[in-house]
Amino acid sequence: TILILDFGSQYSHLITRRCREHNVYAELMPCTTQLKDIKFKPKGIILSGSPYSVYDKDSPHADPGIYDLGVPILGICYGLQEMAWQMKGTVDKCDHREYGFAQVKMTKIGSENASVDALFEGLGDEMQVWMSHGDQLSAPPPDFHVIGYTASAPYAALAHNSKPFYGIQFHPEVTHSPRGKEVIGRFILNICGCQSHWTMEEFIGKEIARIREICGPSGRVIGAVSGGVDSTVAAKLMHEAIGDRFHAIMVDNGVLRLNEAKQVNEMLNKDLGVNLTVVDASNLFLSRLEGIEDPEQKRKIIGNTFINVFEAEAAKIEAAAAEEEKNGAAAKGRVEWLLQGTLYPDVIESISFKGPSATIKTHHNVGGLLKDMKLKLIEPLRELFKDEVRALGRLLAIPAPLVQRHPFPGPGLAIRILGPVTREQVMILQQADNIYIEEIRKAGLYDQIAQAFAVLLPVKAVGVMGDSRTYEQVIALRAVQTEDFMTADWYVFPPEILRRISSRITNEVAGINRVTYDISSKPPATVEWL
Ligand code: XMP
Repeated sequence: TILILDFGSQYSHLITRRCREHNVYAELMPCTTQLKDIKFKPKGIILSGSPYSVYDKDSPHADPGIYDLGVPILGICYGLQEMAWQMKGTVDKCDHREYGFAQVKMTKIGSENASVDALFEGLGDEMQVWMSHGDQLSAPPPDFHVIGYTASAPYAALAHNSKPFYGIQFHPEVTHSPRGKEVIGRFILNICGCQSHWTMEEFIGKEIARIREICGPSGRVIGAVSGGVDSTVAAKLMHEAIGDRFHAIMVDNGVLRLNEAKQVNEMLNKDLGVNLTVVDASNLFLSRLEGIEDPEQKRKIIGNTFINVFEAEAAKIEAAAAEEEKNGAAAKGRVEWLLQGTLYPDVIESISFKGPSATIKTHHNVGGLLKDMKLKLIEPLRELFKDEVRALGRLLAIPAPLVQRHPFPGPGLAIRILGPVTREQVMILQQADNIYIEEIRKAGLYDQIAQAFAVLLPVKAVGVMGDSRTYEQVIALRAVQTEDFMTADWYVFPPEILRRISSRITNEVAGINRVTYDISSKPPATVEWL
């Protein structure tokens, strides 16, 4: 394991990612974590960047004991300055913030024919990197030597004379440093001596064993599934581990995509063998949503109703289990656990060190689940990033179209109907959305787009059909490309695809006479319209 100490940089989670991409397990912890609280022995430590300056009064510092662990340490940006500061080097404010591309030249150690430092082995004499800092070293700390420099930073990369301590001013973790991933690879593989063992094949075996151990021979687990990637993969993994002692519950809230509940049932239950109950609560949800316009109120109603329905269903499963237990023989035990498809980015969000420029949370999940149910949480995906979950899904034989599925928000179509929610509006949007996604798939573009959906606008526009004038609603189409949904760009469709989608929607969906395409990026817009 590589330990990454997070000083609050917006790139910290990317360091974790890059290590994982080398199949080395890496874990992020707040920089203030004390050594005694770290329950594993890391093979190496990486100190992240930070929005702070080491000389700020309240700037965060690592436990100095890390330098006595005898493991390699790499400081990135603030991490370098932190290391230098702790070793009594001199850090100065730059005259200007340096932000952008730079060329690092590697220093030859010894004679001209000698090689570059192990950190840069095989990377040539220079490389393009990304810089983003306000401070820099004005002198290397004692016992350090320069292994790389740029036109404006004479100490862009340093190494200790005798210990495996390294510091770099640039950010190897961002894609703007094209060979940065290799630099991280040199550090964790060659210098720390980590092996590339972190693969999803290994993960499955270990995780199934872990689930079996914590559930014991008879414990039961319940969990909600939505048809999305995370809950499907989590459910299939639980099924592999404990079979029918895992009960999946899907709540049809009436604002799902066209035929969604039926399709999820077929896929999860019939194809993947998961013990699934689909609860059709669409009447309850739609009656509570009837006429509601305010987006936050829509979210609240859907979140609360979901909890009501899920708890009622869980109580039925628990009652059946108690009955079985009373009857002896085939008892499978009581419901003790609740499955949640939490992913590593959510974990990072909750543990990361909050610097002065703490990120604004853009995720708003249907939270608050099951506060008073006396269940323990089981979260088999909490160590994984989204693409690792997808790889896991493929290994668990979940069909490819499902593994690549676009995300779908918990409050569903309710937040894509901009006006009041009614049954008629839901039906119109379901049909338009279905045509849109169908055409995207037919054109082979689905996997190039991170998320695509239709929105039903609360306006009417004039049109003409045959000899008569129409006065009907408008559909907006949205498609975005993004890495992490924090920022997003609108997707550039070939015009003939948009033409076909528009013509099909206006011809086939009664009540729509106009289709528009949303060309806003995030920021300043968001992905969803509400
Ligand atoms: P925004 O609109 O915030 O969306 O740019 C970013 C991502 O989050 C999804 N999203 C939601 N997901 N409940 C969810 O489960 C919500 O209330 C919600 N609002 C937005 C959105 O679909 C996109 O993937």
